[in-house]
Amino acid sequence: MTPDNNYQLLERGLAVDDPWRPDSNSFEQERYAQMLRISRCNGDVAHALEVGFAADAFTEMLAPHCQRITVVDVMPQAIERARQRTKRWSHIAWITCDIKRFSTAEQFDLIVVAEVLYYLKNIAEMHAAIRNLVSMLAPNGALVFGSARDATYQRWGHAAGAETVIALFNESLSEVERLHCQTESVNEDCLLVLFRKPSHSSEQSNVGH
Ligand SMILES: C[S@@+](CC[C@H](N)C(=O)[O-])C[C@H]1O[C@@H](n2cnc3c(N)ncnc32)[C@H](O)[C@@H]1O
Repeated sequence: MTPDNNYQLLERGLAVDDPWRPDSNSFEQERYAQMLRISRCNGDVAHALEVGFAADAFTEMLAPHCQRITVVDVMPQAIERARQRTKRWSHIAWITCDIKRFSTAEQFDLIVVAEVLYYLKNIAEMHAAIRNLVSMLAPNGALVFGSARDATYQRWGHAAGAETVIALFNESLSEVERLHCQTESVNEDCLLVLFRKPSHSSEQSNVGH
């Protein structure tokens, strides 16, 4: 699948009322519940970064547990929908940007990136985005990653899915917890991983699992 096709798919997805069905699908609800649980591994969060939030269903769940959230999405339509849905929150900053280019001097104590990196063109782009995310994570900060499995995304024509990206994160972060969410449907099968950034560069990351 070419990147252009990926973004056409995104436009189509964002045009419907419940994109990626987080409000009506029990698999998605369980995935979000688990993401929230591991995002709160250190209790409430001072400043979170959420990348690729679609219609913001997860942002709404995370917002009450954060002093500030910065949310970044490449699609202006996603930002507009999310802004409408979360008007009541004043501590959310919305940014339209590609995660490959997003940069800030701020350090986040939580980063959430779920079902996003597979949109990138190839593994080199995924690696560059991962290095960018790791550079914005504070020492001891938590990163929550979620994705369908390599086999699922490769079947759909993407470069890679969960296992490949988890191995790339493990180059610089320590894997703390890994969860498997699945149903009988072959398309509902994803891994969620909680990583932590070592507080000192001498700490070793877990390679593989
Ligand atoms: C399938 S939705 C995932 C939503 C949510 N994180 C979840 O787990 O359900 C993917 C989102 O990632 C965004 N996205 C795709 N490529 C991106 C990129 N390069 N930079 C930032 N956001 C991107 C899309 O616009 C879309 O809103």
